[in-house]
Amino acid sequence: MAKIILFGANGNIGRLFLKLTASTSHQITGVIQNPDQREHLTTLNTNASFETLSLALATSKDIQDLMTSHDAVVFTVGSRGKNLLQVDLDATVKAFEAATAANIKRFILISAVYAESRAFWKDSPILNYYIAKHYADRILEDEFPNLDYTILKPTLLTDGEGTGKVRILPPARGDGSDQPGSIDRIDVARVMLSILNEPSTFKASYNFANGDVPIDKAFN
Ligand SMILES: NC(=O)c1ccc[n+]([C@@H]2O[C@H](COP(=O)([O-])OP(=O)(O)OC[C@H]3O[C@@H](n4cnc5c(N)ncnc54)[C@H](OP(=O)(O)O)[C@@H]3O)[C@@H](O)[C@H]2O)c1
Repeated sequence: MAKIILFGANGNIGRLFLKLTASTSHQITGVIQNPDQREHLTTLNTNASFETLSLALATSKDIQDLMTSHDAVVFTVGSRGKNLLQVDLDATVKAFEAATAANIKRFILISAVYAESRAFWKDSPILNYYIAKHYADRILEDEFPNLDYTILKPTLLTDGEGTGKVRILPPARGDGSDQPGSIDRIDVARVMLSILNEPSTFKASYNFANGDVPIDKAFN
């Protein structure tokens, strides 16, 4: 059993993670921006509790205070293109700082497919989003060796019922020939749960899409 703090609990993946963990012994604290979201989210996971915090406005210390006494951080926050620097970059880095200060080691971060490859996204219509994800990931890898992080970089997210199977993508070629496909959000949530206590995924990052390898075999 782990005590998990879930940032982005009201997001699409966050809600799916809440539902998935409802039938486990994990105890979830969901972080939301709007207290009105609490009532509905409680119906998804009656064992979860909720805290309200805007990560853009919060200090690292505010975030640390919420994190204290948890075993793991699951971070699925995303800006949806608004406040990119405040959310996809700065709020994310504040969460790394807060986890470190709270002595939490395990940190699962959702980034975006091929965020490490400038060549892949240099002509993207969501260039600034990619820049924010790229630097947040780099800061985690370069400045937080204390964290047992896993950076999950799913490709285009879709809302089907999932297959429970994925494909770890090859490195980006960045010449326009990469075809990273798509993946249902529920499979991303399943991956998050599957790797939670999997040391082989610590200090690693994965680009992945829908595929034919069972999730519990793909990430090790
Ligand atoms: N869309 C894609 O195809 C795609 C592909 C790869 C990776 N991703 C990434 O996957 C992750 C999760 O995706 P998703 O579909 O679950 O995203 P989502 O539905 O947009 O959820 C994002 C969550 O972040 C929360 N959030 C935003 N700003 C915040 C702030 N300042 N303080 C606290 N919470 C804040 C939102 O809160 P509210 O609910 O209150 O708005 C929402 O719950 C994101 O990081 C996204 O960038 C997306």
